[in-house]
Amino acid sequence: MKKLWGGRFDGKNEEWIDAFGASISFDQALAKQDIQGSLAHVKMLVHTQIISKEEGQTIIDGLIKVQEKLTNNELIFTVQNEDIHLNIETFLHEEIGPVAGKLHTARSRNDQVATDMHLYLKEKVEGIIEKIIEFREVLVEKAEENIETIMPGYTHLQHAQPISFGHHLMAYYQMLTRDQERMEENLPRIDRSPLGAAALAGTTFPIDRKFSAKELGFSSIYENSLDAVSDRDFILEFLSNSSILMMHLSRFCEELILWCSHEFQFVQLSDTFSTGSSIMPQKKNPDMAELIRGKTGRVYGDLIGLLTVTKGLPLAYNKDFQEDKEGMFDTVETVEKSLAIMAGMIATMQVNKEHMLESTEKDFSNATELADYLATKGIPFREAHEIVGKLVLSCIQNGNYLQDIPLKEYQEIVPVVEEDLYDKLSSYTAVKNRHSLGGTGFDQVKHQIEQAKKALN
Ligand code: ARG
Repeated sequence: MKKLWGGRFDGKNEEWIDAFGASISFDQALAKQDIQGSLAHVKMLVHTQIISKEEGQTIIDGLIKVQEKLTNNELIFTVQNEDIHLNIETFLHEEIGPVAGKLHTARSRNDQVATDMHLYLKEKVEGIIEKIIEFREVLVEKAEENIETIMPGYTHLQHAQPISFGHHLMAYYQMLTRDQERMEENLPRIDRSPLGAAALAGTTFPIDRKFSAKELGFSSIYENSLDAVSDRDFILEFLSNSSILMMHLSRFCEELILWCSHEFQFVQLSDTFSTGSSIMPQKKNPDMAELIRGKTGRVYGDLIGLLTVTKGLPLAYNKDFQEDKEGMFDTVETVEKSLAIMAGMIATMQVNKEHMLESTEKDFSNATELADYLATKGIPFREAHEIVGKLVLSCIQNGNYLQDIPLKEYQEIVPVVEEDLYDKLSSYTAVKNRHSLGGTGFDQVKHQIEQAKKALN
C-alpha cells in the first residue's frame, strides 16, 4: 500500500516494522480532536484565500462526514495508515477524492499532533477539575457530620493528641484544593495553539494562526514555531500535578486501609467498594483503596517516562514524542476513575464514632493536656513536661492512665492541681479547647467548613 508520504521511497516496506512505528492503536483516542483541528485549519485556509471557498466547503463537508462515521463507529483504522492524522486524511480522501490533498497545505503532522494533544488535555483537565470539586464536596459533607467525632491524632503512627475526625477529613480537603489549583494553573499553558508552526519553521503561505487558534477556542498561541512543535511541558505539568494528587489519594487510602483493619475498626467501607476472598469466608477487603494506592505508581511512571523521553531531544520534533501519548491517556483515566471511586467510598463510609472515641480514652494522648494544665498554673512548661513524663512512666508500670490518678496523689506531687483537671484530661475537652486558628477545636473545624462551603459555591 502506498504511503501518504511515499513519494521519495521505492524500497518495499515490512509490515512488522510499520507496526512498530505506528501509533494508531492508541492515538485513535485523538480522532475527535484531529477532525476539530482540521476543520479550524481548513477554515483558516479559506479565510486567507490559500484555497478557494468551494474547495474549503468540500473539505469541511467531507470532514463532517468522517466525524459522523466516527460517532457511529463506522471507521476502520489501519496500521498501514500509521497514525490518526494519516488515517483521517485517508478517510477524507475516500469521501471527497483528490481535493482532500489540499487540507495539509501549510501544515505538518508535527503541529497537527501537538494541536490534538492540547485540545484533548484541555477538555480532560477541565473534567478532572470537576471531579476534584465533587470529591471536595463529599469531604466537606463528611467532615460536617464528624465535627465532634473524636479520634486519635497520630505522629509517627503513635497516638499523639486527640483530634476531631472532621478536622482530619478537612486536611484532605485542603490537599485536594491545592490539587485543583495546580490543575487550574496548568490550563493557560495547555490552552495555547501550536497550529501553524508547521513542521518546525512556520510556512511561506500567508496563514493566520490567530484565526485558527480562535476557531479552536485557544486563548493564546505559541510565539516560537520550534517551541510549538517540541513543547511537551504542558503534559509534564499535568503528569506532575497528577502525581501529587495521586500521592494524596494514596495516603488517604493507606489510612482507610488501616482504619478498616481489625486493630483499628474506625470505619467500614460500603460493600460496593470492598471485595471478598476466594478462600477465607470472613474477609472483607478494601480493594478499591488498595488499588488507588497501587495505581499511584503507574502515574509516577507516566511522569518519569515522559521526562526521560524528552530529556535528550534536540529541537524540534522527534519521533520519540510519539511516546508521549499512552502515559498521558493512562494518567487521565487513572485520575478520573480514582477521584470518582474516592468520592463514592468516602460518601458511603460508616464511621464507628464510639470506637474512635474509646481508642483515645485508653491511652496517654492527654499527656500534653496535663502538661499544659500545669503550665497554666505557673509551672514552667519544660518542668511540667518532665513531671508528666515521669507520671506516664509510673502509670505504664501500674497499668493505669493519667485520668486514673487520684487527686490526692496529684496534689502530693504538684499542690496546684484541682478537681477541674479531670475534665481537661478528657479527650472531648482536649479537642474542644484547641481554639487556636486552624486547630482541631470544634469552633475552628466549623469555621474551616464554612470557608470551604463558601469556596465551593
Ligand atoms: N504519530 C506521530 C506522533 O504521535 C505524529 C507526528 C509525526 N510526525 C513526523 N514527522 N513523523 O508524534
